[in-house]
Amino acid sequence: MCGIVGITSNKPVTSSIINSLRKLEYRGYDSAGIATLYNGLIDEVKCEGRVDNLEKNLVNKNLQGNVGIGHVRWATHGVPNQVNAHPHSSERVSIVHNGIIENSTLLKKHLIRKGHNFKSQTDTEVIVHLITEYLKKNDLQNSILKMLKRIHGSFALGIIFKDQPDLIVGARRGSPLAVGYGPKENYLGSDSYALKSMTNKISYLNDGEFCILRKDHVEFFDENGNKVNKKILELSSSEENYDKGDYKHFMEKEIEEQPITIKNCVNEYVDKANGDINIYNFPWKTDEVSSIVLVGCGTAFHSCLMAKYWFEQLTSLDVTTDIASEFRYRKNRFKKDTLYIFVSQSGETADTYAALDLCKKNGMKTCSVVNVVESSIARDSEFVLPIHCGPEIGVASTKAFLGQMLVLYLLCLKIGSIRKEIDRKTFLDKIKNLSLLSKLVKNTLTTETQIQAICNSFTDAKGSMFLGRGYSFPIALEGALKLKELAYIHAEGYPAGEMKHGPLALIEDGMPVVVLAPRDKYYKKTISNMQEVIARGAKVLLITNKSKDEVFSENIWEKIEVENISEDLLPFLITIPLQKLAYYTALKKGYDIDKPRNLAKSVTVE
Ligand code: G6P
Repeated sequence: MCGIVGITSNKPVTSSIINSLRKLEYRGYDSAGIATLYNGLIDEVKCEGRVDNLEKNLVNKNLQGNVGIGHVRWATHGVPNQVNAHPHSSERVSIVHNGIIENSTLLKKHLIRKGHNFKSQTDTEVIVHLITEYLKKNDLQNSILKMLKRIHGSFALGIIFKDQPDLIVGARRGSPLAVGYGPKENYLGSDSYALKSMTNKISYLNDGEFCILRKDHVEFFDENGNKVNKKILELSSSEENYDKGDYKHFMEKEIEEQPITIKNCVNEYVDKANGDINIYNFPWKTDEVSSIVLVGCGTAFHSCLMAKYWFEQLTSLDVTTDIASEFRYRKNRFKKDTLYIFVSQSGETADTYAALDLCKKNGMKTCSVVNVVESSIARDSEFVLPIHCGPEIGVASTKAFLGQMLVLYLLCLKIGSIRKEIDRKTFLDKIKNLSLLSKLVKNTLTTETQIQAICNSFTDAKGSMFLGRGYSFPIALEGALKLKELAYIHAEGYPAGEMKHGPLALIEDGMPVVVLAPRDKYYKKTISNMQEVIARGAKVLLITNKSKDEVFSENIWEKIEVENISEDLLPFLITIPLQKLAYYTALKKGYDIDKPRNLAKSVTVE
């Protein structure tokens, strides 16, 4: 969470910092700020709210300088307002921070006793005063080292110094930080995405490292101050992917892009000529793996849950799923024959990364399913399976969810076929079905008008439920999450068969309930559960697939029929109306769809 950018150049940096902050807004958007160094003075402009506000505030202030740092915030300590916005400055330094300083209360007491005055409620300000204190008796490098030793928690930092005309210090522990190299200028960024518009030459700081950037030179150091050599990586990137085009919101674009992203992903992995799946360089023999643990957060966790159903159905592997924030603190039974799969769109989610790190420290086999291939999770796992979706900017995940499910499904087919648990004919049939998926997703996207009408009933709802069984259960969870994230409506995703054990008590007259009942092996059971909620006054939106057989139930309020495909691929299709339901409900309520309140796209704090 929070975005950091820093630029040291031979020309003014304010407008480039603002451009990068716009790209970083997906990491946090409750306040923003910038500080530059000009003629030996640090000047800053900060605001509550978005980068647009910051730009307005800059109109009346000519912020000059060839060195500067900028920040977009997702509040942890202290309310989102102008005072708590970063950068935080003293008479000697100015700092932007991403993360949480866990011992800030103790440090603050100590610094107040030494005469330091605090202006904000943030944990970040202790770093400002600590460095200022150390600079009284130490040179810059030693002050940084001492400060880094004193602070606990996770952080990425960007620091400028009043008496160092072209210099920025970057440091990280826990939170990611990248350095970019440009012509007569160098950059610091909380991820490479913010830097891509300026350069494709990037290095990443490892945990515990810090760096000193000058406009023509960058040095890296480990936690003891020893110099470290860094590889410069060349990223491939196409800027136009980051554009909304004619769409009103990134989310709308990302929903509509799904036929293309599915097609691209299938083309990347499916070897049509040989009837195979291109996962050849798998680093382990399949007899070395007898169980799988899938770990993720939010939407990524739902794709893990989906994969559990597929792996159990198609292979004999033992499969468990784990929410990353729970995984990291449990007493896990690490077993050599377990493959740990980490699923993350951003590849930067702190809890997922910590779970990966824990597995690595315990010598486990690690694989990641990510969208951002340069991310920390991708870099640090043994084997990476990219989902090939292109940048996902809308905070609520859509195309990445389908991409994650698709790659996990492909991995399941591949492992099942190598283990000879999926016979050749079934394998080829399933590959053939995959080639139809993109077209069928496209056809399912046309339920637009119907969904827009249905949304009227959701806008006034105080609460709603999303029910499904089997393959549809993870999708029910995802549908409920989308409605919560975007339309701020309480939504509960539940296994339809479990309703009678409590949640049925919540059903009241007119409550909208979404029932996912594609015609799979659970269909009849789910329809019975649907009748139970209808009998108690629920307004049921049934999502099923097209069939010549009528749905045998009365009093269904609305019905959406998706296209037909094999049972195991129906989850892809029934997801689409749920994405649109959340999108149009939020649109009708006038909410900020790409940047919902209190959330951020990349969650790099615990
Ligand atoms: C945040 C986002 C969610 C996302 C989750 C996990 O909460 O708002 O959309 O599912 O993080 O993110 P990841 O990048 O690890 O998939």
